[in-house]
Amino acid sequence: MTATLFSAIGELVTNDPALGDGSALGIVRDAALVAEDGRVVWVGSADEAPAADERVDLGGRAVVPGFVDSHTHLVFAGERSAEFAARMAGEPYTGGGIMTTVAATRAASDATLRANARRLHAEMTASGTTTIEAKSGYGLTVDDERRLLSISRELTAETTFLGAHVVPAESAADRAGYVALVCGAMLDACAPHARWIDVFCDVGAFGEDEARAVLAAGAAAGLLPRLHGNQLARGPGVRLAVELGAASVDHCNHLTEDDVEALASSATVATLLPGADFSTRAPYADARRLLDAGATVALATDCNPGSSYVTSMPLVIALAVREMRMTPGEALWAATAGGAAALRRDDVGRLGPGARADLAVLDAPSYVHLAYRPGAPLVADVFTGGRTAVTDKE
Ligand code: NIG
Ligand code: FE
Repeated sequence: MTATLFSAIGELVTNDPALGDGSALGIVRDAALVAEDGRVVWVGSADEAPAADERVDLGGRAVVPGFVDSHTHLVFAGERSAEFAARMAGEPYTGGGIMTTVAATRAASDATLRANARRLHAEMTASGTTTIEAKSGYGLTVDDERRLLSISRELTAETTFLGAHVVPAESAADRAGYVALVCGAMLDACAPHARWIDVFCDVGAFGEDEARAVLAAGAAAGLLPRLHGNQLARGPGVRLAVELGAASVDHCNHLTEDDVEALASSATVATLLPGADFSTRAPYADARRLLDAGATVALATDCNPGSSYVTSMPLVIALAVREMRMTPGEALWAATAGGAAALRRDDVGRLGPGARADLAVLDAPSYVHLAYRPGAPLVADVFTGGRTAVTDKE
């Protein structure tokens, strides 16, 4: 086993309140970190660093935990720039374009889907993301959903079956039949490749009873629930997610006071997706209201070709700070520890002893620059499990 000393860290964010300044971010200045066998084994002041087999000198730069992007739609074909342009010219976002991507995805070979997913994954890694959740949902047949998940599994263990994304056009006259397919043959084919099950519970997608049936079937097959909810209108999504003990309910743009209270008194994370609000020109989710009530908030990209063709967690952080009134510290926590909570993971999203040695090295003296310098390519180096991450696009 090789021990690697990461030395000369100007500012280290650990997300461990027992370390450093004692804040939620657990910031250690003039720090060092030792990784061994993929894990963090020591964190502290640079002048107390133990000896190690090898040393990586980080030259006084800031280090944060690799971002945990807990909501992406990674595997699809085609793109929808014309829909985006129409939206910027005043068209509303309805989710109706999902079927455009479904058609392109069904027609694509595995090789095309894999190449597109790898390209996006490489973009994410290069911008500091070290844990990625990936959903299906652009196949909507038994075989297409299965192949999207099996390709996702090549890139991440955090795979989510989203057969209940929308009712596909060919099933428009038989919603109940489609829900039965999702809960039956599609789930059987997909469950071996998935950890999670998700439903888009919103206007134009699935209603409460349908969502409940899908999540119950998923749970019976050993999948853990999460939900897209309350993106387009107020509705049952948040309430259902909390009732079912979902790890996360995502979007949360339209909340009642009861929804906020339910989230605040539960372990269900409110995952906010400012890239989607930006790209659909929708009102941003009210992060302040959720945080002030005591809810756990995560930030994710929602990377998909329709509502948020965004791979950059630094951009998401900048939007959350500028547009959602999160502090830079709250936004960084939500993009790391918050994402980990939304995936029920305690080995990522932090850099205390025992955590996976996933580091994003910033070409900046402080993590605050993630929001302060929007658009600058601040992520200089990325390490996963203590080793340089592959960020090339081949
Ligand atoms: O998370 N809300 C539902 N699904 C995606 C959008 C998918 C699309 O427009 O292609 C989302 O925003
Ligand atoms: Fe989504």
